[in-house]
Amino acid sequence: MPTTPQPDPCLIVIYGASGDLTKRKLIPALYDLCRLGYLSAKTGILGVSRTAMSDADFIERMKPWCQENPHFDEQTWSRFAGRLHYQPADATDLSSFREQLVPRIDQLSQQHDVNDNVLYYLSVAPSLYDPIINNIGAAQLVTEGKRWCSINRDRLPWQRIIVEKPFGHDLKSAEHLNRVLGRVFDEESVYNIDHYLGKETVQNLLVFRFANAIWEPLWNRTYIDHVQITAAETVGVEDRGAFYENAGAMRDMIQSHLLQVMAVLAMDTPSSSAAQHLRVEQRKLLEAIRLIDEADAPDYAVRGQYTAGDVGDKTIVGYREDPNTADDSTTETYAAMKVLVDNWRWQGVPFYLRTGKAMRRKLTQIVVQFRAAPHAIYSEMCGEEAPKPNRLVINVQPDEGINLKFTGKVPGQTGTLRNAVMDFDYLEQFGGESQEAYAHLLLDAVCGDRSLFKDRFEIEAAWRIVTPVLNYWANNPDAELATYAAGSWGPEAADRLIEPFGPWRNPEGEVSRSRLVHK
Ligand SMILES: NC(=O)c1ccc[n+]([C@@H]2O[C@H](COP(=O)([O-])OP(=O)(O)OC[C@H]3O[C@@H](n4cnc5c(N)ncnc54)[C@H](OP(=O)(O)O)[C@@H]3O)[C@@H](O)[C@H]2O)c1
Repeated sequence: MPTTPQPDPCLIVIYGASGDLTKRKLIPALYDLCRLGYLSAKTGILGVSRTAMSDADFIERMKPWCQENPHFDEQTWSRFAGRLHYQPADATDLSSFREQLVPRIDQLSQQHDVNDNVLYYLSVAPSLYDPIINNIGAAQLVTEGKRWCSINRDRLPWQRIIVEKPFGHDLKSAEHLNRVLGRVFDEESVYNIDHYLGKETVQNLLVFRFANAIWEPLWNRTYIDHVQITAAETVGVEDRGAFYENAGAMRDMIQSHLLQVMAVLAMDTPSSSAAQHLRVEQRKLLEAIRLIDEADAPDYAVRGQYTAGDVGDKTIVGYREDPNTADDSTTETYAAMKVLVDNWRWQGVPFYLRTGKAMRRKLTQIVVQFRAAPHAIYSEMCGEEAPKPNRLVINVQPDEGINLKFTGKVPGQTGTLRNAVMDFDYLEQFGGESQEAYAHLLLDAVCGDRSLFKDRFEIEAAWRIVTPVLNYWANNPDAELATYAAGSWGPEAADRLIEPFGPWRNPEGEVSRSRLVHK
């Protein structure tokens, strides 16, 4: 995580330029980086997809999305628009690649004087990853790594690739994708993006853990009872039902995001903040997670599907009633999983991960539940409210912040104890703007910093962890698929999963400054 970005000149080539992600996230993120002066003046952006458009059409199409930035201004926009280009091409077709794309990339590289540095972004359906990567290789667009081996690499042009999730549909397809990437790009040039890792609070978690000496002595099985990681969304599948039918909550969230957040939370101390040291520790943690037998999956995981209900003032139709899903669909819109780590630090400490759509509140949160004091000398002073063991709550979104629950004495002679909260609000404390995850990660990729990207080993390790559960659900279609009403906190079966350590900590109200309090 460099404090001052030092981006190289480069051409950013986005495959899938007419698509949803490009307009909603990528171009607005690049606009914001340009506004903040974080990109080199020698930066060009080339959008590629089959839709026929001129540069001017593309620029016109992107403008309203950038105008959503509260700091939008016309002067920055015209500077940014001067960097935007578009090339219609079928990126799966090698001849169209050679005849249209390669000359355009060459021309723009010269125009923006980028020293042949190119960052490719795969913002297309996963089925197109293979052909596009192969074509990049076949068209000899990669000069670094596979074709050069130099001790003085820093001065050579680089080519990197950002790969969007999903990284495969299962372990086998993920291994295949990694092999395809490996034939064209060096591992260090592959940036597997996980926008969760680009969120401020997840990065702050690294600093919180490793820049403060007080946590590390407590961060283990002696003091921590269990951990809960929740990612809840209030929306249902909206218009993405067809996509979701083939994904489900386990693939879409637990495999791809929550296990990675867990790795950041639970890894051993890296020897430096350099990407390679972070990667090694996160990989070690993921590889230490116990792999369960398929037959034991019901003891470790719960799946659920939402039925109709109200989320706030919005009524959501049940998942099976959605026009793009099957009437008898068994795709889970909710998944919870108990994860055990077989190492000295975490032996016997369960990590409970859960995620769901159409839940009561939108939040991503980590709850670290500490053990109770070993001997309760104040039990007679407790009154109605028994003091609870310490709990650390890390709000990833919304209201990024951290709070620590502890027991305090009520002032006066009553000698009553009560639970109290120490509260840290990220924005209130530090001010400034919280940057969109995509902006942060795009800048890191341009700067060559892989600290917040996953490597192939982590991706494959995460697939290994969820595979027995996915196989069990696939091979036992009649296995329990619990239902939950939209607007609830998920199925009761998930409460049973966490029972010995639970309950799940569900936010029940709001305190001043809109922070969440917990039971
Ligand atoms: N949207 C999100 O919020 C989101 C979030 C996380 C991850 N992702 C991932 O990001 C990727 C893109 O998602 P999306 O929602 O933007 O998809 P999308 O809206 O369907 O866009 C797909 C893009 O691919 C282009 N394309 C299709 N075939 C092509 C070809 N042969 N050559 C060149 N371009 C081609 C399409 O343009 P033409 O039809 O004009 O060729 C379109 O621009 C997916 O892998 C998705 O899983 C998306």
